[in-house]
Amino acid sequence: MAHGFLNQDSSDQFLFITDLDHTLVGDDAAMAQLNEHLVRHRETHGTRIVYSTGRSRQSYQQLRTEKPLIEPDAVITGVGTAIYYGEASEPDPQWSAQLSEGWARDRILAALAPVTKLTPQPESEQNPFKISFFVAAEVLPQVEQTLHSNGHPVNLVYSGGRDLDILPIQANKGLAMTFLRETWQFPPERTVACGDSGNDRALFAASQERGIIVGNAMPELLEWHHANPSPHRYLAQSRCAGGILEGLRHFQFI
Ligand code: GLC
Ligand code: MG
Repeated sequence: MAHGFLNQDSSDQFLFITDLDHTLVGDDAAMAQLNEHLVRHRETHGTRIVYSTGRSRQSYQQLRTEKPLIEPDAVITGVGTAIYYGEASEPDPQWSAQLSEGWARDRILAALAPVTKLTPQPESEQNPFKISFFVAAEVLPQVEQTLHSNGHPVNLVYSGGRDLDILPIQANKGLAMTFLRETWQFPPERTVACGDSGNDRALFAASQERGIIVGNAMPELLEWHHANPSPHRYLAQSRCAGGILEGLRHFQFI
């Protein structure tokens, strides 16, 4: 079990992981309500709060100036490619070292050069372990085949009918969640992840963690959810933070 603080009743603690845009963020009133629950739960039980976003660290910092986000115990940025604690300027070095094994960023870029119709995302969204493009869904098979035939094992993550992230095979939101869960020693059944879009699918793919899909989820995630039913995954009626609250009650975390 994760370390609690003195005088805490830790038996009810859980590991809470949420996507930001259109999941935690999107309904200000519901987020304020959820925040209260989470802060109280962390104080009383030692629950840990983690944000997992496709955004870069810089773009996450920007969001913090726009919305009253509570201080998390960790932030996973770039679709699982970097894990930050507090104000530390460098990401978790152990996680970064794991991702660097077998990852050849420059060779992947070179292999993809012949694939036209790939528009690079802005430089701010690229990082040492994430190559991101804007691309139509029809082009995905060509990307996949090109990387496969060049012998590059990668994770391809497609979101919003537009965003393609090419990540090391050891990285995605789900694998980063597992890394933190194991580091902090939370059992999967005391872990719950929340999301709304394609890059959140990996949060729900590990079979034992609890999952909450918010009511406003994108078709790409809903289709997968319906095709892969699981009693450990809850599809909420309410949107954004309202849906998270609904799911936390459904699983009796709160
Ligand atoms: C965020 C990131 C972008 C990524 C997308 C989907 O919008 O900024 O780089 O492609 O999430 O994961
Ligand atoms: Mg989202």
